[in-house]
Amino acid sequence: MSSNPDTQAAGQPARAAAISILSAALSGRAGIEGALAHPSLRAMEPRDRGFARALALATLRHLGPIDAALQARLKKPPPEQVVNALRIGAAQLFVLKTPPHAAVDSTVELVPLPFRGLVNAVLRGLTREPPNLIDPDRLVPPWLYARWRSAYGEATAREIAAVIPQEPPTDLSLKPGVEPEGLEGEALPGGTFRTTMGGDVTGWPGFAEGGWWVQDASAAVPVRLLDPGPGQTILDMCAAPGGKTLQLAATGAAVTALDRSGPRLKRVTENLARTGLAAEVVEADGATWADGRQFDAVLLDAPCSATGTFRRHPDVLWVASPKDVASLAAVQTRLLDSAARRVSPGGRLVYCVCSLEPEEGEAQAEAFLKRTPGFALEPIAAGEGGAPEASLRPDGTLRILPQHRPGGADGFYIARFRRAADHAKA
Ligand SMILES: C[S@@+](CC[C@H](N)C(=O)[O-])C[C@H]1O[C@@H](n2cnc3c(N)ncnc32)[C@H](O)[C@@H]1O
Repeated sequence: MSSNPDTQAAGQPARAAAISILSAALSGRAGIEGALAHPSLRAMEPRDRGFARALALATLRHLGPIDAALQARLKKPPPEQVVNALRIGAAQLFVLKTPPHAAVDSTVELVPLPFRGLVNAVLRGLTREPPNLIDPDRLVPPWLYARWRSAYGEATAREIAAVIPQEPPTDLSLKPGVEPEGLEGEALPGGTFRTTMGGDVTGWPGFAEGGWWVQDASAAVPVRLLDPGPGQTILDMCAAPGGKTLQLAATGAAVTALDRSGPRLKRVTENLARTGLAAEVVEADGATWADGRQFDAVLLDAPCSATGTFRRHPDVLWVASPKDVASLAAVQTRLLDSAARRVSPGGRLVYCVCSLEPEEGEAQAEAFLKRTPGFALEPIAAGEGGAPEASLRPDGTLRILPQHRPGGADGFYIARFRRAADHAKA
């Protein structure tokens, strides 16, 4: 970024928007996408909107170290807007490497008059003593880091933390038969296309034609493990926004895409229309859905704490809480029981979560097997579905950690079950 005063002035709406995004994502728990969907942001010029998003994400990816450095310089916490301005000021200084006078002056202008001296002094102080932005002990909230250390060991927890500050590439799933024409990048095992491109994906070649959709390399694995085929009936029980529904529908399977959220299902419908794919779309609670059908296979991509998605949603690290993990685990248990009832004898059930927390993954699968007669694990083979070999657990389920794939990928837990062919209808 230039320190030219005109450019600095031109960037002010984007910097102000980045402050609003932080507030919506952290205090409002709206998520990055939710924060960006606010009408005031949607109305911005695409360039400003892109800069606001990039600045908010750069801040969130280094939030722990930035906050530690700020706290050391603040006697008492100023109002939230001022804290968020300081955060984006620090991100400009140390992540985007904006020249100090431009980063400091532009931030000072964004706060009310009584706080300008404070912001100026704190940011100038940071330039003299820059924070260590890759300190693993700061990149993750202490409660979460303690959990990762206890689940995976010290060394692995550090490896996970080291992925947090990295900006992720964008992964695409291509419709069968579609070539990634005009897209720069490489094919990964399993078929995901990893682009090196940046900017607004809706302008990339092939988007309007519906030849591909954005889907993280890990998120594309569960459907491959379900291995649907033409004419098979598949229930996608927590379907929105629909990446996995599209994958299922693209195989020619007869897909029922169910989700509790009407607004999120709208995105499934839009994605199906854009890609020219078809599915039955149902708005219902998966745990209580009053439909007696059984399916050849059921995919349960359950709601979870989403701690594995911190590469694109770094706010999850700071809004998740131990209470959420416990309450979501209870929801997952209910949904798993309902999903099992909807699998035909001899059929498959794939359970997955984009969480790094064992209560939402390994513990769910183990408890499900104990309480559910007629279901057994169908072990996943090394490398199956394009999953990294390092992710395979001895029991044949997958624990994909973000560092298992070069360049990173979302954290996921995936288990595949089969219902015995002679198991009586539940
Ligand atoms: C992890 S997301 C699913 C992502 C989706 N499978 C995809 O690939 O795009 C979890 C979804 O579960 C939905 N959900 C939460 N509770 C539910 C319930 N009781 N019944 C059905 N859907 C539910 C949420 O609305 C959310 O869309």
